[in-house]
Amino acid sequence: MTNNANSPSTPIIELKNINQSYDDGKIQVIKGLNMTIEDKPAQGQFTILLGMSGCGKSTLLRYIAGLQNPTSGTVLINGKPVGPENRASMVFQEYSSLPWMTVLDNVALPLQFKGIPKTQRYSQAMEMIEMVGLKGHEMKYAQYPTLSGGQLQRVAIARSLLANSDILLMDEPFGALDIKTRLQMQELLTEIWLKFHSTIIFVTHDISEAVFLGDEILIMKSPPSSIVEKIDVNLPLKRTRDMKRDPKFLEIVHKIEDLMVNISDMK
Ligand SMILES: Nc1ncnc2c1ncn2[C@@H]1O[C@H](COP(=O)(O)OP(=O)(O)O)[C@@H](O)[C@H]1O
Ligand SMILES: [Mg+2]
Repeated sequence: MTNNANSPSTPIIELKNINQSYDDGKIQVIKGLNMTIEDKPAQGQFTILLGMSGCGKSTLLRYIAGLQNPTSGTVLINGKPVGPENRASMVFQEYSSLPWMTVLDNVALPLQFKGIPKTQRYSQAMEMIEMVGLKGHEMKYAQYPTLSGGQLQRVAIARSLLANSDILLMDEPFGALDIKTRLQMQELLTEIWLKFHSTIIFVTHDISEAVFLGDEILIMKSPPSSIVEKIDVNLPLKRTRDMKRDPKFLEIVHKIEDLMVNISDMK
């Protein structure tokens, strides 16, 4: 819902007229892309970026994380340009924890950067560790195989939540996990979303994962890329695994499959 016409609410994330090129403009990856993610503080927003490999999904997340600037265009968080004080944190597919530090120190790291005293940062970190189901593992080193792949991604999620639970960027975070762990992590993420009312931008090329997690799905076409479709997933907010067999769920999956085939033919 928008407010009245005189005071439209500021989107939480807005990308305006983005162009990304390399090699002095010879390679154009993104062209005239616009993306608006509404601010829904009472509910949060689970937005999926879906598209073929190489279409620029990770690039969009890097803009919002302040890790890359577009060749031209504007990237705003809460109406202000992205910068060191106004950026979102990211969970990558690769395990991104520091293996020489414990789970507790890894999760507490963003608070250490902010200069928060040890007792306080440990107590806040322990809350997140419990939230992601890692209680009892806090003194282990955050490394494989001491922790499993799924556990390492739990560490990364806990750290991102502690850094800023308003916006979470996730770049194919479950891509390397086995199917059982992946399903568990998907359910965990929906629980986190319902608890924190975060705005989550989640990149995947897995259509079933997109429909299971997403509230809205933005579909990108291949370079020179832009967002070509927005699908609203009208399923109940609380997702459970059995919904994947629901005819309504399957209908959305098939609709997206057809769209993706057509989009891959687009120039
Ligand atoms: N330094 C670079 N020079 C040329 N092309 C690049 C460079 N960096 C990224 N690209 C291209 O940008 C496109 C988008 O990359 P990326 O955002 O990683 O895609 P995705 O995450 O959707 O797979 C890719 O086609 C990639 O080849
Ligand atoms: Mg990528």
